[in-house]
Amino acid sequence: ICWKVDEGEQLQNHPYIIEAAKYLSHGKTVAFPTETVYGLGADATDEQAVQAIFDAKGRPADNPLIVHVGKRNVIEQYVTAISAKAQQLIDAFWPGALTIILPSKGGLASNVTSGLTTVGVRMPDHPVALALLQEAAIPVAAPSANSSGKPSPTSHEHVLQDLNGKINGVVDGGQTGVGVESTVIDCTLDVPMILRPGGVTQAEIEAVIGAVDLAPSLVKGDDAPRSPGMKYKHYAPDCPIWVVAGSSHDMREVIEQQEFEGKRVGLMISDERAEELGLPTDLNLGSRDNLTEVTRRLYHTLRKVDTLQYDVVLAESFSKEGIGEALMNRLEKAATKII
Ligand code: TXA
Ligand code: MG
Repeated sequence: ICWKVDEGEQLQNHPYIIEAAKYLSHGKTVAFPTETVYGLGADATDEQAVQAIFDAKGRPADNPLIVHVGKRNVIEQYVTAISAKAQQLIDAFWPGALTIILPSKGGLASNVTSGLTTVGVRMPDHPVALALLQEAAIPVAAPSANSSGKPSPTSHEHVLQDLNGKINGVVDGGQTGVGVESTVIDCTLDVPMILRPGGVTQAEIEAVIGAVDLAPSLVKGDDAPRSPGMKYKHYAPDCPIWVVAGSSHDMREVIEQQEFEGKRVGLMISDERAEELGLPTDLNLGSRDNLTEVTRRLYHTLRKVDTLQYDVVLAESFSKEGIGEALMNRLEKAATKII
């Protein structure tokens, strides 16, 4: 079942929100929009409902889920301690694209946290998500609503492409805003550690709580995963993606080489790069001067790759400043090669 909610609609007591919330509290799976990507939700206290998420996505059981709440104070029921820094982050960024890892108190289905002693919590900044979570009045476990390994969904169409027939419902709230997932930060450590870059940047976090660490897996040359999810192949279309660092001159050489070998070459590039190369592209990411917009378009564009007949897609390498950190993290994970 698909419930369509239009922008600007009054969501309190909205019949669709009430119905979708009932689905959740009755142990069903419901996909819904957040400001980052669409999530696939289920009651985080209900083992079977949570299992249905793993089954629908084909998600490995050792990859824990984020618990979504509609009110800040609910998390006290599920965590043993909120450090001063964690509280400052909550005050500064919730609702928002920041998932905070805290020591778990139990009380949630054990498969939510994949047996870890910690739990990731987040209050999303999207009117539909907030209305749904508040109406359901339960903690909702929700990973991104894609098949495991595919790009996360930024529209309800993407959700249906992957999960139609495998979930109980989806709330269509239009396109999501940020376009990549939340930042995940481990606040069980004295110096909090960013496990996954995302919608809230490192600089924004450090402006509130001072210096933080980066997970070793995010530092070049080390790929021991800390956040269980980071070790899996992600966001990847079936067609190989190569990230090409360097100038348009360097990219032109790769294009010529590949075309010489008879390959059909797609270009996932900025307006500026298309102009420099003098080549049109159907995988355009917008202006490189607006990385927020490039990030918003990334997953849609990655999905588009599989609708086109390319043998290889060359992607531009963008600045890792600000939101560029999350953008390039996802792009490099989607890539089969970085040259
Ligand atoms: O923006 C988002 O975060 C979206 C929307 C739907 O909220 N959700 C999302 O969930 O991206 P998911 O499951 O696709 O990614 C959750 C990430 C995974 O990398 C997982 O391993 C990590 O968070 N994670 C969850 N709980 C954790 C924990 N207790 N300790 C370490 N990492 C954890
Ligand atoms: Mg995901």
